[in-house]
Amino acid sequence: MTASTELRGSSNEGRGNGLFGIYVHWPFCAAKCPYCDFNSHVHRGAFDESGYVESYAAEIAHYARLVPGRKVNSIFFGGGTPSLMDPRSVGGILDAIGAHWEIDKNVEITLEANPTSVEADRFRGYRAAGVNRVSLGVQSLRDGPLAELGRKHTVDEAITAVRLASRFSRAQALISSTRVPAKPSRIGRMS
Ligand SMILES: C[S@@+](CC[C@H](N)C(=O)[O-])C[C@H]1O[C@@H](n2cnc3c(N)ncnc32)[C@H](O)[C@@H]1O
Ligand code: SF4
Repeated sequence: MTASTELRGSSNEGRGNGLFGIYVHWPFCAAKCPYCDFNSHVHRGAFDESGYVESYAAEIAHYARLVPGRKVNSIFFGGGTPSLMDPRSVGGILDAIGAHWEIDKNVEITLEANPTSVEADRFRGYRAAGVNRVSLGVQSLRDGPLAELGRKHTVDEAITAVRLASRFSRAQALISSTRVPAKPSRIGRMS
């Protein structure tokens, strides 16, 4: 299977309430940031996104057989850059989860996003698919450090994305403490 899906028990696991959380990893990015150690890759050429969604659904069905009868109270789309996903793909994965487990009425469904204007345009679609929280990787509110970090967005785009996301979700802007290395040891490595 090419898609990478991790399903982990939340901190509630084992406490007897049956609630658990699901992490869905989307490992693709528009560009590889020089400091990033995560499982993230730039795909080149044609990309069959619906085929990936089918693979996620198969993986979810597999874990549902291993962990039946539970209630999901947290779903996190992390990356990589899940905000590059077609909102229909997010909806398809959420449907697959809902087909196997009961979903808690207070479920928190988070999607990590990069604050570029292209991705901000998709927020409405993610909301319609069921996402109720967006985690934005702002990194810095100064254009100089953003450029040094190799980020593809500006401060203005980040502020616009935070405002837009706030209309559709519980937006959380992550202003990370990522340090800019004086001499990056690697640039754009793809593992
Ligand atoms: C892995 S990214 C995924 C979400 C999105 N692609 C982004 O860049 O924000 C999530 C966060 O991880 C942090 N991060 C990336 N590389 C890191 C590293 N090597 N060490 C610590 N944090 C890192 C960044 O702050 C980033 O916002
Ligand atoms: S966009 Fe996010 S996940 Fe992708 S390479 Fe940059 S920090 Fe890593």
